Amino acid sequence: MKENLESVMHEQRSFVPPQEFRDAATLTADKLQAMQCAATDDLAAFWADLARKNLEWKQPFIQALDDSNPPFFKWFADGRLNACYNALDRHLEGNGGKTALIFETDEGEILYFSFRALHGEVCRLANALKALEVRKGDRVVIYLPMGPQALISMLACARIGAIHSVVFGGFSADSLKDRIRDAGARLVITADAAPRGGRVTMLKETVDLALAAGCESVKKVIVYRRTGVKTEWIEGRDITWDDSLNGQSSDCEPEWVESEHPLFLLYTSGSTGKPKGVQHSTAGYLLGAMTSMQWVFDLKPNDIFWCTADVGWITGHSYVCYGPLLNGLTQVLFEGVPTYPDAHRFWRMIEEHRVSIFYTAPTAIRALMRLGDALPRKHDLSSLRLLGTVGEPINPEAWTWYHRVIGGSRCPIVDTWWQTETGAAMIAPIPGVVATKPGSCTFPLPGIAVDIIDEQGEPVTSPNQGGFLVVTKPWPAMVRTIWGDDARFRKTYFGQFGDRVYVTGDGAHRDEDGYVWILGRIDDVLNVSGHRLGTAEIESALAAHPRVAEAGVVGRPHEIKGEAVLAFVVVKGDRNQAIRDGLAAELREWVGTQIGAIAKPDEIRLVDGLPKTRSGKIMRRLLRTIGRGEAITQDTSTLENAAILGQLTAPAAPGSAP
Ligand code: PRX
Repeated sequence: MKENLESVMHEQRSFVPPQEFRDAATLTADKLQAMQCAATDDLAAFWADLARKNLEWKQPFIQALDDSNPPFFKWFADGRLNACYNALDRHLEGNGGKTALIFETDEGEILYFSFRALHGEVCRLANALKALEVRKGDRVVIYLPMGPQALISMLACARIGAIHSVVFGGFSADSLKDRIRDAGARLVITADAAPRGGRVTMLKETVDLALAAGCESVKKVIVYRRTGVKTEWIEGRDITWDDSLNGQSSDCEPEWVESEHPLFLLYTSGSTGKPKGVQHSTAGYLLGAMTSMQWVFDLKPNDIFWCTADVGWITGHSYVCYGPLLNGLTQVLFEGVPTYPDAHRFWRMIEEHRVSIFYTAPTAIRALMRLGDALPRKHDLSSLRLLGTVGEPINPEAWTWYHRVIGGSRCPIVDTWWQTETGAAMIAPIPGVVATKPGSCTFPLPGIAVDIIDEQGEPVTSPNQGGFLVVTKPWPAMVRTIWGDDARFRKTYFGQFGDRVYVTGDGAHRDEDGYVWILGRIDDVLNVSGHRLGTAEIESALAAHPRVAEAGVVGRPHEIKGEAVLAFVVVKGDRNQAIRDGLAAELREWVGTQIGAIAKPDEIRLVDGLPKTRSGKIMRRLLRTIGRGEAITQDTSTLENAAILGQLTAPAAPGSAP
């Protein structure tokens, strides 16, 4: 784990929340302390109280936490509610006319949706889904561009108790097929195409390919015509969004589901090849998304919130779809990318829509920082009062730039640590109370019991000593299981330290002041631009190519993306011939079609063998060292084939990407 220790360890600066921010903050030091005490006294009662105050129940619950069968915890299990009702209906009286969404398309067109308008559309689609025989508990895969239709689709599923599974629009037909099959989806909602950064991705084409590969469970495909581009049409299976909504009523009685009813599945990478369908509950998840937002973003009714994440990721679920709507906020929703039509885009949008809270990823901050201060300085960013980051550790240089240039040294930065599996932010500063340090996500939120432990499961007590980041008590928004695979769920997250200790897969340490610093993944998972990629997944995609014998994939530090993907590939047959054929470039594209563009290796080295232990395990630690261009100091005496090391450090094979 030591090799992961980064320079952030030496960061000493601390930023106290500005007086003005503290004076206006909802959560004060006293209130926060009272909450922490209440959570320590009786964790279940603490959350139960919040669940009663924050959520609307059709049938109130009596039991807060059922922990009789760990690691399968249940929260508020005897209550009934509906996620869509909580997100929309309850705002209609009094706030129905309030703007829920300010949607800006890739081309710059702006559309507004009030809570009432959104409610009407959601109900019509919910009725359409019912007409297409989607029932409570059925799975619906959503493969749409970032936009109102994605949110409408998620909420329509929630309204009728169907389980949504959003697949990011950048995933390939193969990845989509795997997810559709694993979920056993009954229906797919897609669009003809997705405009993004001036380019167009053909979504429907990808869906057709995925379904042609055999997804018998899918009976219908709803196609939203986003661009009007011509696509194949399968009569009887495909139906346009407009046709499905046509004649449907904008009233739809919500399906009142049990608290533990699955609200959604979201597939994520693990350290083995097959993506995991992370299953979230209804009530516990909603409570986590809602309360974490109130605390971490110090919400005020007039805030204009903008989270730049795509709904294909958990951040888009919790802080684009559910969190903002549950809290009745106005938010900006953006279809495009930060650099199109030019790198002013984010700053221009903040200025134009008077955004007050801006939440984005370190990779975007680093990319925009590289372009200099002049761009953001051309814009009036004075509406901002709070900034956030998520997805990967933020380096202090990017943090301070974000703070100074974007936040005008006036906005606190909330660095929020969490995961697809945690459902909501777990470790993050309360902005009006906690002094921040660049690169630290500070302290766990109320009701979240986090610890850092060593290999024996003992808490690490000395400051700055690294250990496993674990959560020692259940929390409402936690993952419930891996879809269809309870055993894998138990083994992945609870295997190491018993059935009550959730293992995050991250390493961390605390400094002298108790601040938590995340050191990154300790398993074979990469974090590329804030997206999780399993090395095993990329390795098995490479190995599926007819000319590949085996592959070893590692990450290496990358200035903008955080981590870049480096693949060592053993080819079948003559390596020199493979180099001459430009196989490396071909394999990059191959991974793109197998998984999706995000997983394309940045560099591929064609080699004759991989460093292995005598038991045949690939020594990834060694590959990592080689990938970083560092001298090998590890003991290589246990290597089966030490002679291969010279070849691995050779420069990139011709044809591989820079
Ligand atoms: O390694 C941590 C990193 O992202 C992982 C979770 O990835 P995912 O499930 O895709 O969710 C990302 C968005 C919540 C974590 O295990 N990570 C996330 N946030 C931070 C972070 N690393 C450091 N600091 C963060 N704020």
